[in-house]
Amino acid sequence: MTGSMDPIKIGSLTCTPLHPTFVAEITGIDFSKPVSDEQIKDVIKAQERFGVTVYRDTGLDDLGHVQFSRQLGELEHVPKFSGPKTVQRFAYSELFDAGNTDINGNIVQKGTRRWWYNKGNALWHTDSSFNQRRSKFSALLAHAVPKEGGNTNFADVRHAFRDLPEEKKAELRPLVLEHNLWHSRRVAAPEEYQAPTEYELAAKPPARHKLVQTAPDGGETLFLAAHAEYVVGWSKEDSQKLIWDLIHYCTQPQYTLSVQWHQPGDLVIWDNRQTMHTATPFSDQMEVRDMRRTTVFDDGPFAGGVPAKPIDQIHEKPVEVPAVAVPA
Ligand code: OGA
Ligand code: MN
Repeated sequence: MTGSMDPIKIGSLTCTPLHPTFVAEITGIDFSKPVSDEQIKDVIKAQERFGVTVYRDTGLDDLGHVQFSRQLGELEHVPKFSGPKTVQRFAYSELFDAGNTDINGNIVQKGTRRWWYNKGNALWHTDSSFNQRRSKFSALLAHAVPKEGGNTNFADVRHAFRDLPEEKKAELRPLVLEHNLWHSRRVAAPEEYQAPTEYELAAKPPARHKLVQTAPDGGETLFLAAHAEYVVGWSKEDSQKLIWDLIHYCTQPQYTLSVQWHQPGDLVIWDNRQTMHTATPFSDQMEVRDMRRTTVFDDGPFAGGVPAKPIDQIHEKPVEVPAVAVPA
């Protein structure tokens, strides 16, 4: 599967690989105009081929970001973790705030809940695996980047899985993982997230997905993240050992690449079905890093997790969170 690093054309796009197996920088799109349906097909092909694509200096604003993302598929809406009165920073409920500022643009202070929440992004994960209806693409747009640090690191999970010995693959194939957003928050910030609030728990109950799944190219891959708490039917201890052994295996240097953000307008799209990613440190009490993300629902055969449910029966738009605690 190791490819050449020479640029390749996918329709109107030029894709320059940044790693032998995944990640390419893409040129050929004029983001100042609506992107044609024809080009969107090329974008999706490039996405599925490379797993992670980097578009520099797009000039996109919030509206352009949301409109372009909508062309890639149906978008997730941001959950209201503080209940119905949660104040959103952006005009579009499809924009997730992955930066370090509050709704007024001030730096999120160390030790606040939001600051601890962001710590979870520094664990290797794939977005929204804790949703029963999972997501395929995430599109992260930079609005302000720090002078130093704050790269996003990526892992080629698809490639890592294919390198495993056949016996190991056979052992993993039947397994189902239970993913829980509050588990990864607890791993990253044990004291702060010992007891999530009733709104938090109601907004994001756990979800189950097969561990070994089919990648867009038809081969096998892993659907793995720090959100994974249990292998269904296993003890927590055994579950966590397997999950972290696999995360460490998949994130060895030969399977990973660090993507540097150069300027506002840089856009990185990743495929949550076949990669993992992690935020990396920067001077988060000194510098603003303003990053906004859209997340595109999966619509493939694995979209509804286990037990597989038709996706129109899964409600992943918790706009109104009931004011009752959901049993853990
Ligand atoms: C995300 C995320 C990493 C980063 O937006 O899903 O994990 O580097 N971001 O901001
Ligand atoms: Mn993420």
